[in-house]
Amino acid sequence: MDLGISGKTAFIAGASSGLGRAIAKELLLEGSHVAICSRREDRIQEAATWLQQQTGCPASNILALVCDVTDENAIKNAFEQTVTRFGALHMLVTNAGGPPTGQIDDLDASTWRSAIELNLMSTINLARLAIPHLRKSAHDLARILMITSLAAKQPVPSLYLSNVSRAGVQGFAKSLSEQLGAENITVNTILPGYTKTDRLSHLSESINEQTGRSIEDIEAGWAANSALKRIGTEEEFASAAAFLLSKKASFITGVALVVDGGAVKSLL
Ligand SMILES: NC(=O)c1ccc[n+]([C@@H]2O[C@H](COP(=O)([O-])OP(=O)(O)OC[C@H]3O[C@@H](n4cnc5c(N)ncnc54)[C@H](OP(=O)(O)O)[C@@H]3O)[C@@H](O)[C@H]2O)c1
Repeated sequence: MDLGISGKTAFIAGASSGLGRAIAKELLLEGSHVAICSRREDRIQEAATWLQQQTGCPASNILALVCDVTDENAIKNAFEQTVTRFGALHMLVTNAGGPPTGQIDDLDASTWRSAIELNLMSTINLARLAIPHLRKSAHDLARILMITSLAAKQPVPSLYLSNVSRAGVQGFAKSLSEQLGAENITVNTILPGYTKTDRLSHLSESINEQTGRSIEDIEAGWAANSALKRIGTEEEFASAAAFLLSKKASFITGVALVVDGGAVKSLL
């Protein structure tokens, strides 16, 4: 299936590893131009080299940017560099690292604020500042895709910070989809379940330190809870994301797509 995104431009936040980088790879394979960002210069440059090797695309199709998504001015600057380089912005993927684990007695107010900044405010600011650029592309292709978590549908006991900030993103996305629909800009969220990335390794290490359970046992538990009885791959996640970003998803907006191998147990 031709996704209709060859020659279109995507900005993907939090893309030096994991799910963001996997989406960049999938879009490059479809012929898109991608601007990727993360906080660390060495890591984002390494990702750009890796993406070029993996996809065989010209180096000029990738723009690697240092941008902390909790910094509004850095986001503004990153979008300006993107449209200067590629001429337009058609697809925005909001993303960042996950917040720490912890339950109510473990988390002070400043930890709560940092998590809200990292996962909720960054999403709002990325979307807010991308919209003027996306409006210029809306006659052709304009998509916003927000990466949240299965925790937005089914809270995870040790992940209070994620459970709360992701639910906020879902409310924001639905509100925005209602407003931007008339302008032909779609807004969707994608909710990963347990997917093998650096973040998942850190999560299992953190649970291992807190509980003494082995990493293998923790990961086997996650797998057992899903209908497909396994953890997902980055590629499986990225395929679903690329579809929602594509021209083929033109009548889909305001949707929360869970990509979790059947881990969430609700009917809808
Ligand atoms: N993998 C899973 O199973 C899973 C499940 C549910 C939800 N999620 C959520 O999905 C998101 C992506 O997960 P992942 O597994 O891909 O994580 P990951 O492998 O740790 O990647 C996170 C990426 O975000 C970047 N980043 C972190 N903080 C940033 C910031 N303030 N500004 C810009 N970039 C930032 C990191 O690079 P730098 O360190 O260089 O900035 C890295 O490129 C996370 O929010 C995670 O909690 C993941």
